[in-house]
Amino acid sequence: MSKNPSHGSAGVQRLAIAIMAAGKGTRLKSKYPKVLHEVGGKPLLAHVIAAGTQVVPPADVYVIVGYESDRVRKAVADTGVRFVLQQPQRGTGHALMCAGKNLAGYDHVIVLSGDAPLISPETIRRLRDFHLQKKAAMTILSAKLEEPTGYGRLIRKTKGDEVAAVVEENSCTPAQRKLREINSGFYAFAVKPLLENLQKLKTDNPHGEYYLTDMASVLGKAKERVVATPTDNPSEILGSNTRAELVDLDRKMRRDKCIELMAEGVTIFYPETCVIDSDVEVGADTTIEPFVQLLGKTHIGTDCRVRSYSVIQNSAIEDGVVIRTGCVLDGTRVAKDAVLGPYSHLRPGSDIGEGAHVGNFVEIKKVRLGKGSKANHLTYLGDADIGAGVNIGAGTITCNYDGVNKYTTTIEDGVFVGSDSTLVAPVRLGKGSYVGAASCITEDVPPQSLALGRSKQIVKEGWAKEKRARQADH
Ligand code: UD1
Ligand code: CA
Repeated sequence: MSKNPSHGSAGVQRLAIAIMAAGKGTRLKSKYPKVLHEVGGKPLLAHVIAAGTQVVPPADVYVIVGYESDRVRKAVADTGVRFVLQQPQRGTGHALMCAGKNLAGYDHVIVLSGDAPLISPETIRRLRDFHLQKKAAMTILSAKLEEPTGYGRLIRKTKGDEVAAVVEENSCTPAQRKLREINSGFYAFAVKPLLENLQKLKTDNPHGEYYLTDMASVLGKAKERVVATPTDNPSEILGSNTRAELVDLDRKMRRDKCIELMAEGVTIFYPETCVIDSDVEVGADTTIEPFVQLLGKTHIGTDCRVRSYSVIQNSAIEDGVVIRTGCVLDGTRVAKDAVLGPYSHLRPGSDIGEGAHVGNFVEIKKVRLGKGSKANHLTYLGDADIGAGVNIGAGTITCNYDGVNKYTTTIEDGVFVGSDSTLVAPVRLGKGSYVGAASCITEDVPPQSLALGRSKQIVKEGWAKEKRARQADH
């Protein structure tokens, strides 16, 4: 436990967050755990952890894992949260039973669902403050939904904030099913009454599980105060039990991301066609055309233009760069005012210099391309260090691989490589040298020299005319 006195209206309180993430997610029909399915380019659980760790330090966040627990732990290990194992998974109430001994040193715990990724830190804080102010044993964050199907319904007492019970959809009477106020699956509990009463949960329900929701009636019977507070932003509580719900959440998250970027000065045409991950940054006066994907930890500067059908992942693009139609970039750095595409493929380790040009059907991997250098057509550059002011002719290929090892091609400043050249690495083209078209270069070229690595041209005068004449005789 870390020292994290939470200054709620009820004074200094020690607060933990528990995130339930042990379920399989049967309704997704997947072999992967539900909480690792992605929306907005990140696992569901990573979004919930990001919100939780803005309210309490990571050392006070307990993620309850079970199904494929190693895979889940690994996916979010870098967040610094703690893990609790729930094995087997016998329901949301059982998840909290498993976390019991970890929670004993805290005054209150906020319980979040690992499959509801839109929850914001503000809403978690509001839930905490309401809970502390009401001095409740259990506070349920509720939501009033137009379409409540699938959620547990809240049965309120006739007056005040108090709640009598939560009834799961498949145990509802027809009248209860019509209730629009639902249980979001987010709660705050006072730890003492929670731990004292958890063992009273029963499994007398259609799934034979311990339902955390039954704590409402269990605590009520124990004369503890159970209250609910409706969220003012119902879309934040949406869960993702099915593929259709996952896709809906993803769409909503990405639309919100586009709206946020546009508010910061980015123009996005037809934003509903663009896929932009949560962590992407884009500078003002940059224009994103339809059907662009910006993924992972990508940063794009100001005054750039990203044309349609480009997919850019984990890349850093400086100001004033033009990325034409259909480029694919991964793990690439592009310095200012460079021009890429159409149809350039920049693979990890590409470092494109200021004002450089990379044209159509050019593939680049682990290459520094210096300031103002050009590789405009039909070329493969791999494992190369290329200086400034270099011209790489159409169809140039660095032969970087002998079937076992990779070797480096070094091209110094101001070199001119003629079209259709093959550069067999390791090899160095000295400063200002020329390589004649269609050369196969296997040895270093000294600075300021011309290298020709091709057979000498033979011309047979009159040969074609004689051939045709011979054919006409037959
Ligand atoms: C739950 C609530 C329901 C509420 C809804 C909101 C219960 C019984 N029902 O239903 O009232 O309206 O959330 O989204 O709680 N989990 C574990 N261990 C388990 C079972 C589940 O950690 O043994 C985790 C799951 O991984 C998931 C979360 O708890 O992240 C919620 O479980 P889920 O099965 O999705 O509950 P719902 O049916 O959505
Ligand atoms: Ca759920």
